[in-house]
Amino acid sequence: MTLEERLEATIDIATAAGKMIRDAREGDDLKHHFKEGQELVTDTDVAVDTMITERLESAFPGEDRLSEELAPDKDAVEQDGALWVVDPIDGTVNFAHGLFHVAVSIAYVKDGVTQLGVVHAPFLGETFTAIRDKGAWRNGQSISASQSESLEQSLVGTGFPYRRDSRLPLMRRLGAVLHHCRDVRRNGAAALDLCDVACGRLDAYYETVSPWDFAAGWLIAREAGARTGHLYPCPEGLPEDLYGENLLVSAPAIFDELGELLRQADAGELRDIGIG
Ligand code: IPD
Ligand code: CA
Ligand code: CA
Repeated sequence: MTLEERLEATIDIATAAGKMIRDAREGDDLKHHFKEGQELVTDTDVAVDTMITERLESAFPGEDRLSEELAPDKDAVEQDGALWVVDPIDGTVNFAHGLFHVAVSIAYVKDGVTQLGVVHAPFLGETFTAIRDKGAWRNGQSISASQSESLEQSLVGTGFPYRRDSRLPLMRRLGAVLHHCRDVRRNGAAALDLCDVACGRLDAYYETVSPWDFAAGWLIAREAGARTGHLYPCPEGLPEDLYGENLLVSAPAIFDELGELLRQADAGELRDIGIG
């Protein structure tokens, strides 16, 4: 099967998942649970993951999967061969609160390198796609990342972990970005933050997330011309495309400067602006 054929099949599955998500909201059937204390999950997250898993198995029998609700074993990122990386609902808190920034994210990875990505936002009517080395699209139209050259005029997306005690160290980064950039957005769906970078709505995005949050959007942003990387080196043996620690994605011209600013903030070296 060609990558184009795989992409078509993946778009169909993501669109069907998006319909389940819309129907679930209309049915107002939102049972909330919590995993590991603070992290919210609804019955719909699990139902959508189950449907995607079944559809992937029937279209691509025997290929491995890493999915947030049903197969969250992150060791899978180290294996060779085919791997489907699935977030059935990215933006669960938005979904549960009736907000619209919600997406289905599916990536197909081969030997640790992402080959295609689909991010479908059912309430926004947007489907972002990319094939490695072939470009990125929004609803079938080619998209390009921002060409911003100035940190001062850049709008930067980010997010925060569910664990509240992990949020505090990120305040330094937030202070630095608010001081040096146009402003910050916290829209609550990492996959869509990356697609917003891909189509130039955001100039940059930084965060630490799980592989299913970013695998598809990361390829989409890179194929749209954004620079993708990490603030600190990726450990040897782990595929960069699936290593979610300290991601930085931005317009190419501001990547180095923004990376330096965030590292300085981490090191407490910005005392002149009260961040130390
Ligand atoms: C979350 C979203 C959010 C990010 C969190 C993720 P979920 O995914 O992508 O924007 O800040 O780190 O866990 O839980 O809604 O699938
Ligand atoms: Ca997610
Ligand atoms: Ca999720």
